[in-house]
Amino acid sequence: MQATELKRGVYWVGAVDWGVRDFHGYSTPLGSTYNAYLLVDEKVVLFDTVRKGFGSELLAHIRQIIDPTQIDYIVVNHVEMDHTGSLPEIVEAVKPEKIICSANGKKNLLAHFHRDEWPYEVVATGQTISTGRKTIRFIETKMIHWPDSMFSYIEPDALLISQDGFGQHWATSERFDDEVDASELMRQSAKYYANILLPYSVLVQKLLADVKQMGLAIDMIAPDHGLIWRSGPEKIVNAWDEWSRQVARRRAIVVYDTMWHSTELMAKAIADGIRNEGVSVRVMGLDGCHRSDVITELLDAKAVVLGSATLNNGMMPRMADLLAYMKGLRPAGKIGAAFGSYGWGGEAPRLLDAFLAEMKFEIACECLRVNYVPTAEDLQRCVELGEKIGSMVKE
Ligand code: FEO
Repeated sequence: MQATELKRGVYWVGAVDWGVRDFHGYSTPLGSTYNAYLLVDEKVVLFDTVRKGFGSELLAHIRQIIDPTQIDYIVVNHVEMDHTGSLPEIVEAVKPEKIICSANGKKNLLAHFHRDEWPYEVVATGQTISTGRKTIRFIETKMIHWPDSMFSYIEPDALLISQDGFGQHWATSERFDDEVDASELMRQSAKYYANILLPYSVLVQKLLADVKQMGLAIDMIAPDHGLIWRSGPEKIVNAWDEWSRQVARRRAIVVYDTMWHSTELMAKAIADGIRNEGVSVRVMGLDGCHRSDVITELLDAKAVVLGSATLNNGMMPRMADLLAYMKGLRPAGKIGAAFGSYGWGGEAPRLLDAFLAEMKFEIACECLRVNYVPTAEDLQRCVELGEKIGSMVKE
């Protein structure tokens, strides 16, 4: 790849990871990028680094612009290892005058790398640093999505370097949003939000309000993953506003895991019932759908219907995995219902009911259970359950 100029004297110098397929439980079938940015002014500043193993790629991109030893400051906007794994190697190569980070950033860098001798300089929201013709303004974004996270805003370019904010896991040869398929870009952005930012939605709302109140013009948003938003960055800001308010559409998802296809038959009949009410529905079997894709579909769905066969007095393991993942991400304001086939105990649908209650979802009705293989009457009850859910979604 080539270093790419995004504003005069500001360059993308990151790395493309075509091969990564998992980010702590989030599937990344399209890979990812670790974006780092170089500002060349009277002072030269590197914003963020890259994952361990990609440091030589970062240095090669920097060398296309300047000798890395000319870098004066390294700004660490976020300490997670996909952005700092190569930091020791880069610090060694650059020998920066300052490593600029938030107070939590310093604490977390010390906890990761145990390097007391590094030249930390702690900044807080509102502080600025002049690089000569340009100014960097710092905005802390605690818990979006780590305690150390912050944005760097470059004046007068109106360029927001937003670390994980507004990113996507998508490895591309292109660097800008207007160079790729717009619908795929929003889909990957939604997946990123759903799987990483959803539990912090209240804080996202506050951050968006705070940035609005600061009155910062934003001409371009450069995240640490994926494409740079240069053609109307308000598109992704507005999407984040909607996702963080958990705005639901007239959609439902039916998610199931089945043993001998009985629960699958129930899932399809429930989906038929939902569709009978004119509500869009997506059926997701956990034998083929990854947990992170289920959460992406859940992001703007009004209803989630969970089905599991009973196995050893509990639920199927992939359903248990999904629930553990979903609980941490804290989706809110959904309509829920549970179902499943069983042989003797029949515990799984009841456990799913308990989960829906714990999530404070509006439960459509008590779980629907079928002994072994559903009869035509059983499937009709499934259709009727779907119709009830569909009518609730329409309300
Ligand atoms: Fe891309 Fe939270 O690290």
